[in-house]
Amino acid sequence: MSQIKIFDTTLRDGEQSPGVNLNKQEKLEIARQLERFGVDRMEAGFPASSKGDFEAVKAIADTIKNTSVIALARAVKSDIDIAWDALKGAEKPAIHVFLATSPIHMTYKLKKTPEEVMETAASMVTYAKQRFSEVEWSAEDATRSDWNFLAQIIEKVIDAGATVINLPDTVGYTTPKEYGELFRFIRETVPNIDQVSLSCHCHNDLGLAVANSIAAVENGATQVEGTINGIGERAGNVSLEELAVALKIRSDFYPYETGLKLNEIKRTSDLVSKLTGMYVQANKAIVGRNAFAHESGIHQDGVLKNAETYEIITPEMVGVSSNNLFLGKHSGRHAFKDRVKEFGIDFTEDELKQAFDQFKKLTDHKKEVTDDDLYTIAMEVKTDS
Ligand code: KIV
Ligand code: ZN
Repeated sequence: MSQIKIFDTTLRDGEQSPGVNLNKQEKLEIARQLERFGVDRMEAGFPASSKGDFEAVKAIADTIKNTSVIALARAVKSDIDIAWDALKGAEKPAIHVFLATSPIHMTYKLKKTPEEVMETAASMVTYAKQRFSEVEWSAEDATRSDWNFLAQIIEKVIDAGATVINLPDTVGYTTPKEYGELFRFIRETVPNIDQVSLSCHCHNDLGLAVANSIAAVENGATQVEGTINGIGERAGNVSLEELAVALKIRSDFYPYETGLKLNEIKRTSDLVSKLTGMYVQANKAIVGRNAFAHESGIHQDGVLKNAETYEIITPEMVGVSSNNLFLGKHSGRHAFKDRVKEFGIDFTEDELKQAFDQFKKLTDHKKEVTDDDLYTIAMEVKTDS
């Protein structure tokens, strides 16, 4: 099994979700939970972006001991200096310098020629390296960049001292086949690539972020960047819990493992959701309210006989206490009888038929029948018989 490093950017790219604004205490609370979750690196913020973020990154750097703490910086000296001021108290400080490499970003946003971009990237990595032993360099918008230009600039920034190279799919534009081929091309073309870690960073605009990250890993990425619950700019980043569980569940197919403690997933997801105010959709994989819920009678019957009939992940694996047999209009007698039994009520066959008929009538008016409803039905049937 090869070890895949997990770079969490919930506190930086995740915090860039529209409407999210975490204060220092909230960022610190999430950072502590990310450390418990076992991420290898956490990007704590972008210190040059505001005084508040500087203070939060500094507090995280001074507190977190077992995980490398990273700060984002544009490829300018002042950002790198500010990042160092925020991180110098950290046990394992690291910097993440980014510069766009796609024609559209270089022409319209940076107003720089490719040669100027190459020179700036290399000189800023050299500058960062004077303070930080670990320097990640990102080719922003890598997936819309010219691959030969990427290969040249990557070789240069590695010579300048970069220790991690990241190829972000900044606008969520790539597909698994293309992104995999990009990683393979870089591995095969850049002569000094084996000196560094190669990282993927996927946005989810086309809903392909998990598939793209897995394709990158299959083609030579040794680090995956993402966020908890997949929060982030626009449609968000790759959801780390989805990626980690997919690799675990299909380890028969993918010989990769992460150091994440999967049973901390639910707690981490709940905390991030509560503090960011970003609710998790009910049907979201792994952490959604319905991820372990079954409503139809056929599924419930199967799960009661053997959970593996309809569950490929055990709830306990990801820190969820149990599955949930949702009682609604598609539910069957088996699940109904079992739930009523939990109240200490045993029905005769005749009582069960009466109670189940009443329950079905109620489901025509109510989407979800609660335990109180069930108890009332059960007591009525018992009193009448
Ligand atoms: O998506 C992106 O390109 C980024 C960079 C800052 C790495 O988040
Ligand atoms: Zn990003």
